[in-house]
Amino acid sequence: MTLLSVRDLTVSYPVRGPLAGWWTGQKRFVDVVCGISLDLAEGTTLAIAGESGSGKSTFARALMGLTPFRSGSLIFDGKAPFPARGRPARAYLHQVSMMFQDPVASLSPRRTIGALITEPFRIHRPDLRNLEAEAKRLLVLVGLPADFAQRYPHQISGGQARRVGLARAVALNPRLVIADEPTAGLDVSVQGEILNLMARLQAEQSVAFLMITHNLAVVRHMSDRTAIMYMGRIVEEGPTDRVFASPAHPYAAALIAAEPSSLPGHHRHSAALKGEVSSPLHRPDGCAFHPRCPAARPLCSATAPLPQVSASGALVSCHFPLQRTPDQ
Ligand SMILES: Nc1ncnc2c1ncn2[C@@H]1O[C@H](COP(=O)(O)OP(=O)(O)OP(=O)(O)O)[C@@H](O)[C@H]1O
Ligand SMILES: [Mg+2]
Repeated sequence: MTLLSVRDLTVSYPVRGPLAGWWTGQKRFVDVVCGISLDLAEGTTLAIAGESGSGKSTFARALMGLTPFRSGSLIFDGKAPFPARGRPARAYLHQVSMMFQDPVASLSPRRTIGALITEPFRIHRPDLRNLEAEAKRLLVLVGLPADFAQRYPHQISGGQARRVGLARAVALNPRLVIADEPTAGLDVSVQGEILNLMARLQAEQSVAFLMITHNLAVVRHMSDRTAIMYMGRIVEEGPTDRVFASPAHPYAAALIAAEPSSLPGHHRHSAALKGEVSSPLHRPDGCAFHPRCPAARPLCSATAPLPQVSASGALVSCHFPLQRTPDQ
């Protein structure tokens, strides 16, 4: 069953500096997330990958109501969680939580770990009395010693801060956790532990994850479906094994080819992605990827492509999607 449906979500930030249009008195906005649509099924994991600055965190924050979206709609469990724009409904925030990209900065420095991980209860379950027991339960759940409840955020390591972020995120048994780079900056063994914890929570509590990560090995290992984002748009979305086996969008193909050992028998092909990512302030006409695309033709700079179903069954926004040839 579909848990979350997003349609045409657009998020804009006001432009500062000389391009802001202050002399005209009009505020200018730049679209950082441009019309994202996706569905996430209950108890499954959808990974979002894409270059730095492509709008992944902005999209995640918009889903939590932390950044307002300009247009688009959201349906969670059959209901619209953002009634009249503005703040999402309380019941939604009870069921959806977020692990932030910067775990230490997202923890208030003056509160103990125990207070931080039980904060969701104080907001959503004021009837609960024994918060100390809840803090212990959550610390054990994420593999931290129970006496960590007394510590402060500056007294824990980056890996431990991720675990605290995870404990906070799962405190209320949510149905959806949005995890923004849950393993960034961690060594491989700690990454593995965090991912195993997430997998266990999914198996035991049927939590759905919307996972944002640069790490394509993590994407392949953890996700049922993969969405590849480029300049605020999803350029390809489909079952993870199919997207990796035969990416149809040239950007998805380049990203996957550039990953070491991503395709068996293929060598790292770092020359695949040439050129700088364009700024959202100067979005190219047509397909935003065309200035960097090895397969671009005149149509690509004139018209933005609409999503279509690729040969492998993914949804791809490209005028000339790649076809997998038998020798590939
Ligand atoms: N509060 C803000 N105000 C204005 N612009 C912002 C704001 N936050 C982010 N941006 C801009 O929006 C774009 C997308 O940023 P975002 O943080 O969503 O990217 P990202 O895909 O999460 O990148 P990364 O992989 O580095 O985390 C960037 O160009 C960024 O500079
Ligand atoms: Mg980010």
